[in-house]
Amino acid sequence: MKKTSSKKINKISKKAKNTLNLQDLQVQIRTPKILKVAELGHEVLRRKADAVAVEELVSPDFQDLIEDMIATLKDSSGVGIAAPQVYESKRIMIIHSFPSPRYPTAPAFGPIALINPKILSKSAKKVDGWEGCLSFPGIRGFVPRHHSVEIEYTDRTGKKFKKVFKDFLARIFQHEFDHLEGIVFLDRIKGKDIITEKEFLKLMAATPLKGGTKSSSRKKK
Ligand code: NI
Repeated sequence: MKKTSSKKINKISKKAKNTLNLQDLQVQIRTPKILKVAELGHEVLRRKADAVAVEELVSPDFQDLIEDMIATLKDSSGVGIAAPQVYESKRIMIIHSFPSPRYPTAPAFGPIALINPKILSKSAKKVDGWEGCLSFPGIRGFVPRHHSVEIEYTDRTGKKFKKVFKDFLARIFQHEFDHLEGIVFLDRIKGKDIITEKEFLKLMAATPLKGGTKSSSRKKK
């Protein structure tokens, strides 16, 4: 729990006019905490989150928040989390994709913080897939998303990036981006495609490689 000296922070503040050196930032980062997660019904999940000012990046509190969000995401074995989910109405999301029994084809990516993300373009093609959310424990929904999105964002050191996300990464990004707009995945579900975690696991066991696709499971009924 070492505090950063003000001398060090001043040095970092000067650098921030361009971009930050992650090594400098790591000096000030304390041990991460697991944060409480806001659940459906809390107004913070319905608010449009505020943009992050570039000057905020140099604040130890901001960098600690990023570390805490990463730790919270890892603790829950999730693949994405947005700041409003930890009661911070700011335009920050963490993406951490990795192959798992639940998502065997997921690419390894992150954990990475995307700050003030913007969508530049979206594919016309949409794909349906099951999603869950740390803010609605035990619930899964079948959600249509754009197959790919071209995006830009600022990283935690102030550098700007442009990327194209496809498939699973595009799905994670769109889910987390919605959180920054006060939208939750239940809002995107058409019809009655909401199931419990227990039923979702049954579906995955029946059609693991297809991610428990709805059509293959429902044909049996
Ligand atoms: Ni979510």
